[in-house]
Amino acid sequence: MKKPIIIDCDPGLDDAIAIFMIINNPNFNIRAVTPVAGNQTVDKTSKNALDLTDYAGSDVPVAIGAARPLFKKLVTAEHVHGKTGLGDISLPHSHRAFSGLNAFEMIYQEAERHENELEIIALGPLTNIAITLLKYPDIKEKIKRITIMGGSCGCGNDTPAAEFNIYADSDAAKIVFDSGIPLTMVGLDATHKAMVYEEEINEISGYNNKVAQVAARILTNSLSFCRKHGFEGSVMHDPLAMACVMDPSVISTKKLRVDIETKGAFTNGKTVADIFNVTGKKANADVAMDINRERFIKILKKAMMDYGV
Ligand code: BDR
Ligand code: CA
Repeated sequence: MKKPIIIDCDPGLDDAIAIFMIINNPNFNIRAVTPVAGNQTVDKTSKNALDLTDYAGSDVPVAIGAARPLFKKLVTAEHVHGKTGLGDISLPHSHRAFSGLNAFEMIYQEAERHENELEIIALGPLTNIAITLLKYPDIKEKIKRITIMGGSCGCGNDTPAAEFNIYADSDAAKIVFDSGIPLTMVGLDATHKAMVYEEEINEISGYNNKVAQVAARILTNSLSFCRKHGFEGSVMHDPLAMACVMDPSVISTKKLRVDIETKGAFTNGKTVADIFNVTGKKANADVAMDINRERFIKILKKAMMDYGV
């Protein structure tokens, strides 16, 4: 049976590749894409979600989500993802209309329709999911799992302590991590190992289809950005989280208690992972600690090849 999935995201360059990877995969029933403000404002991430899914030949409903974090001021990542959210990539404008539902209505509707089967892959700040939990607390019992790209057991990337998606709406992240829903946290401990090397990007750019061409351009641009920060390859955060949904064996995980710092002067948005269980609290997340990079690359390449070679 096809697995029902919602893609909650803020496209976003690496979100774009993650969307391309799964949107036409025959093993999944993609119920909706629910954009949120994050890498850019929600009008831009929503337009990008519509254009990207159209470009990949999908007519999946796109339900616009939250324009700002629950309580804190909006922060975007324009310095990484550019003014439009998609760097220098410009896609044909989609003429499809957005869904009449907003993100939280869509998420709840699909959770009811696919009770205990629906999985959410969260690639941006967790505002949409937190709002759904606040409006419909009974959704906790209906969601099978949320795979979150976010957080880190070690250092951050947006502040010294915090990863961008969690930092951008730490109050929302706290609600989701405290919800009791089965969670997989795919944080920087794993995603910093999800590097795509130059020769692999060249191979993808050789596939004869327009989706792989766009993905290769994103990977190439990201490669020069990542090299400036000391990485040998193009670091693909959201595509790794997506690969985990497609094949969980791509990561190895530890069951940990993860609490979210929402106030710290220097540590807002830190995912405080209790590696030695010093608190004695019950684990609330399967935290990705390591990856099988070869397997990740295989999944990425196959997804791009499936559009045509
Ligand atoms: C995360 O932040 C965003 O900029 C990326 O799209 C990814 O979801 C990495 O920290
Ligand atoms: Ca993202």
